[in-house]
Amino acid sequence: MENNVQPKKRALSFIQSSGAFTLGNYLGAVKNWNEMQDECECIFGIADLHSITVRQEPAELRKQIYSAAAMLLSVGLDPEKSIIFMQSHVAAHSQLAWILDCYTQFGELSRMTQFKDKSQKHADNVNAGLFTYPVLMAADILIYKPDVVPVGADQKQHLELARDVANRFNGIYGDVFTIPEPYIKNVGAKIMSLQDPEKKMSKSDENENAKILLTDTPDAIMRKFKRAVTDSEARVCIGENKPGINNLIGIYSAITKKTADEITAEFEGKGYGDFKTAVGEAVVEELRPVQEKYNMYISDKAQLEAIYKEGAMKADHLARRTLSKVMKKVGYVL
Ligand code: TRP
Repeated sequence: MENNVQPKKRALSFIQSSGAFTLGNYLGAVKNWNEMQDECECIFGIADLHSITVRQEPAELRKQIYSAAAMLLSVGLDPEKSIIFMQSHVAAHSQLAWILDCYTQFGELSRMTQFKDKSQKHADNVNAGLFTYPVLMAADILIYKPDVVPVGADQKQHLELARDVANRFNGIYGDVFTIPEPYIKNVGAKIMSLQDPEKKMSKSDENENAKILLTDTPDAIMRKFKRAVTDSEARVCIGENKPGINNLIGIYSAITKKTADEITAEFEGKGYGDFKTAVGEAVVEELRPVQEKYNMYISDKAQLEAIYKEGAMKADHLARRTLSKVMKKVGYVL
């Protein structure tokens, strides 16, 4: 009998561990990951090595890494289906990053917009890690040979660099790396600040009202949505000069799966106040089960540890295989 079963595609993504997760991380990234678990063989990492490109307080960093792990599990990532681990537990990422550093040009890294932004923001600490950050990210990706890499729009340039470096390496040594396809989801891919909707919602924003944290209480969530910046048109529809409303529509759509047109119809004749309340309530309901699970995991570190250690073991196994192949190709003696 003919076997028509296609092997599952492999998907991989990482999330930054610095700071509490925002609604932007959730709707833009991890909620999509959650939905990918059945279609793909998934690998999900916590990018804790990337965190120290900006100075971190050790106790705080540790707390944030735990929190990221608990959060990934709480949003529904399932260690029975997917590999869930911390980047710092798999040494091969750093080893491959060094090798790839030598196949990446200074000029390419200088063009990375995130480097330019971050080196301005942290002008007193423009360290080499901040500069080579995209190469470590390329190593994170290429070492697992994924077919697809779901990322937010802000990481597209880094992913393109990873593809360029992989193509360059393959061009010299033969087909070592799979060239990964970006998977950039449009609806809800970019959740903007509630106070300055031209800017991405960022966990490092100093204005608490600008961001919704996954750990915010229902009261805080409702209050922040009520204060969200909008415009003076008072019609719930997508528009060019309506970044605030566009953002709220994006959020509501990502949760309810309604299209922008359906949302406009739903709020026809109603004011922004009603719409903001509806968005706030949808977010509160969406986050309720997530928060319950999060509290459970964060108070049971042993359970958490068993999961991420198991994940690291599986990831390490895959990563070592690619690293050995790369080393052999380059000419190292194994
Ligand atoms: N740089 C990514 C971000 O800021 C995080 C990241 C690190 C990543 N390594 C990765 C994302 C590999 C995808 C694949 O969001």
